[in-house]
Amino acid sequence: MAEKELLKRTVYCGLVGEAHSGRTITVYGWVNNMRELGGLSFIDLRDREGLLQIVVNETFPTPDILKDIGKETVLAISGMVVKRSKPNPDLPSGKFEVIASRITILAASEVPPFIPENRSSVTEELRFKYRYIDLRSQAMQQNFKLRAKANLLTRNFLDKEGFLDIETPMLTNATPEGARDYLVPSRIYKGKMFALPQSPQQFKQLLMVAGFERYFQITRCFRDEDLRADRQPEFTQIDIEMSFSEQGELFSIIERLMREIFALRGHDVALPFRRLSYQEAMAAYGSDKPDLRIPYTIQDFTDPASTWNSDLLAATLAQGAKVKGLVIPEAGAFSRKQLDEINETGKKLGGKGVIWMKKGDDGFKASLKIGPEHMAAFFRQQKIDDRALVLLVADAESQALSVAGKLREHLGKNFQDKDRLEFLWVTDFPLFFYNEEEKRFDSNHHPFTMPRPEDIPLLDSQPLAVQAIAYDLVLNGVEIGGGSQRIHDITLQHKIFHMLNLEEKEIDEKFGFFLNALKFGAPPHLGIALGFDRLLMLLSGEDSIREIIAFPKTTSSLCLLTGSPSAVSQHQLDELGIAIKN
Ligand code: AMO
Repeated sequence: MAEKELLKRTVYCGLVGEAHSGRTITVYGWVNNMRELGGLSFIDLRDREGLLQIVVNETFPTPDILKDIGKETVLAISGMVVKRSKPNPDLPSGKFEVIASRITILAASEVPPFIPENRSSVTEELRFKYRYIDLRSQAMQQNFKLRAKANLLTRNFLDKEGFLDIETPMLTNATPEGARDYLVPSRIYKGKMFALPQSPQQFKQLLMVAGFERYFQITRCFRDEDLRADRQPEFTQIDIEMSFSEQGELFSIIERLMREIFALRGHDVALPFRRLSYQEAMAAYGSDKPDLRIPYTIQDFTDPASTWNSDLLAATLAQGAKVKGLVIPEAGAFSRKQLDEINETGKKLGGKGVIWMKKGDDGFKASLKIGPEHMAAFFRQQKIDDRALVLLVADAESQALSVAGKLREHLGKNFQDKDRLEFLWVTDFPLFFYNEEEKRFDSNHHPFTMPRPEDIPLLDSQPLAVQAIAYDLVLNGVEIGGGSQRIHDITLQHKIFHMLNLEEKEIDEKFGFFLNALKFGAPPHLGIALGFDRLLMLLSGEDSIREIIAFPKTTSSLCLLTGSPSAVSQHQLDELGIAIKN
């Protein structure tokens, strides 16, 4: 049977409005819902722009077609736009409906495993297995429109700032970014492997040596690491590198880019962003990515605590411990059960426990034996509000800060207003940390990071005291970017590789090509990479980057839609010279 001639779409369902009133239109879409009422049939037709109500009344010429229509059937519908007697204020098109004069079924649908708009009531497994249905929901359609807009905006912005979009290889050698590599076996050179890039780090530096001066790429990176809500094995970076510039100029470019991206959702981002050195962030927040929406910081209460005549505290302090505290507004009314939970949380976070102190209706109380006169003096001297709860962690300084920092974030959830944006630059990271497992120094960012010039003399004597010209961009407690000034001097780069315990042979094999390039006029350069998925997660107000990646992996690194990773044929393995060990 010849297909009925299809009328051209005149407007998207969701965009039908005053201008179409009284006119005959043609819309295409999926059946969101169907119902019958008083001899009339109603179809809610859905397309990427939204919903539109269609009415099938007694004038409709081929009513038999209705029995073949169900949820998610794809239809072309023509009809007259009329004003609804009962408008639906929840729909942009809700003042109008279409009196159908012609309906064509473009595709049938089996009963769907779930209805797109009911996505929040089904498991993530089901949503991922039928991701194309999940993606039909208005929420997902909005997320991916926003993603496309942010991508285009970024390209236009960086183009205006003189950055060139240059692609770098996906089949390459390992890049040291601290995760495991995804390897791709070579068929031609059996036993040899490409690695998928953890980032384009070395290539973008080579593009600076090549004289492009300003590079960017919105590119996929691959890291085999433990997954969380803000981590996927493949993710997208806005990767940036520039020559003959410095941190201040780079910060200004990124701040203006953030301002434009967040304006897409109506935010008015104030510039410049706050800055804290790594040291300052650790002291006040016990974290290098603090959520500044939480209104309290960590305070040092070691001095007052030493006057409280507590044997337990005195013994801990005698071992060099510090007492770090949080004063949590309005939390003095926490129940005994809540306080016990906080203590348990503190222990789970790696501490010895959490001391609490508060002013109840019947006087000061604490989980440790401390005289009420000491507590009264402490509240007075520190100007602590009577309704606040004081939490204290006594431990070695770094441990006390870490536990207090995690407690701060844990208890601060109530303050995390999604509409507020707290951007922060964290600067001057230590160049190295000591890798206890491997008993060697490791780079905090990556080995191409420039130490502060004034700290270079400390490289031999106090490597852990060396600070780097390295920075992270943090938004509401999420690290959304990181970068640094790079080493462009071959002697210094060589020295850093040595300090990371790399043997000469290994340096030559892994980084020989890169060191070579530093011999031929490498300009001073610096850069940054922003996690595009994390940015979009925060921009869209989602809690996981899985919601703004069209086809994400589960937290156990599986693609439930395609079933990857999957077994391959013996023939393919033979071609690659690979035998699978059990
Ligand atoms: P870094 O490793 O800090 O720096 O990565 C930059 C940003 O990428 C995001 N990100 C991730 N997002 C989702 N899933 C992941 N698994 C994941 N890993 C990282 C984060 C992070 O801040 N080459 C350097 C950049 C540079 O020095 O220019 C780099 O890759 O938001």
